[in-house]
Amino acid sequence: MPRLPKQNYHDIERIIEFDFVRACENAALNSLQWLGRGDKEAADAAACDAIRGMFDLMNICGEVVIGEGIKDDAPGIFKGEQLGTWIPGAPPFHIALDPIDGTTNISKGAPNSITCIAAASPEAGVKEALRDIPSFYMMKLAYGPQVVRAMQISGIETVKVESPVEEILMGVAKALNKRVQDVVVMMLDRPRHNEMVAEIRRIGASLRMIGDGDIAAAIGPAIQESGIDIFLGIGGSPEAVLSAAAIRCLGGDIQCKMWPRDEKERDQLVADGYGEELGRVYYADDLAHGENIIFCATGISDSALMRGIRTQGPNTITHSILMRAKSKTVRFIRASHDLQNKTIRLRSDNREHSI
Ligand code: FBP
Repeated sequence: MPRLPKQNYHDIERIIEFDFVRACENAALNSLQWLGRGDKEAADAAACDAIRGMFDLMNICGEVVIGEGIKDDAPGIFKGEQLGTWIPGAPPFHIALDPIDGTTNISKGAPNSITCIAAASPEAGVKEALRDIPSFYMMKLAYGPQVVRAMQISGIETVKVESPVEEILMGVAKALNKRVQDVVVMMLDRPRHNEMVAEIRRIGASLRMIGDGDIAAAIGPAIQESGIDIFLGIGGSPEAVLSAAAIRCLGGDIQCKMWPRDEKERDQLVADGYGEELGRVYYADDLAHGENIIFCATGISDSALMRGIRTQGPNTITHSILMRAKSKTVRFIRASHDLQNKTIRLRSDNREHSI
């Protein structure tokens, strides 16, 4: 039978999604050399270099619509950057990414660092699949599919980001058919959370505080084995959108509200025309909209979402998650890399490198 001159895939995401995983794996592997070395910027730069290098091999027109939150001049991949070869006719993707969520964790050799990418291809009726939120922080409340179902069936109405902490915890306990002391709450360890922490302790729920990395933490409740029932607290807005993309694929939900750091930021948001949005509660579907969403992540150090990189004999093992909103297929990918043979492409010199 003659070979077809060109293969037209009916669903390009099914093919390209594995290259997104490769980009995450390469970022994780390339940043591993910086684990515990006290240099978070070098780790971030290594992850960015590997992501750009992998995208240079991908025939897509990728536009970064949500990059890293701009923090103390750290290196990063920011909004507006083009990724992919951009050869004419290549499929377009909007991309949100965090080359390392938890750079401080990496620098300390601490848990809870991942690399992650969300992407959306154009879809009829969807103007902005991955919403760029203008505030630096958002207040977040994330929970799993069981809580969503219970809310739909029994009409529990207290699990709201604006509800008092006690009502949220009682509502989640009821939804999960648990005692409130068995409800596990994950939260970033920050002084701005002191009041919420005191409330959680007074009520007696079980608190797990993390140093950094609230993307994995907010996705955790949507994964049963994570052992986390809810994620609560204030963290970065780009991170909220990435979490929402994953939650759209897994089920569960996240509720978020812009949380200006001070009056100056609030005034600026109002001046920029976001006055009304300040009071809005965004759900996962508002932050990551449509069916054409892909999410993937690779663990660098262990987190609620997945294990970090391990060395096993001569090989290095990565753990990744890959999923799509359309099919809701969730793949946990355990890859064994033979570093004697494997190379990764870095953008910095456009060459393949041993790791
Ligand atoms: P970086 O890896 O960019 O440092 O972000 C880590 C992180 O903990 C995020 O997961 C979280 O959303 C944000 O920082 C919280 O910001 P802050 O450290 O200012 O409280």
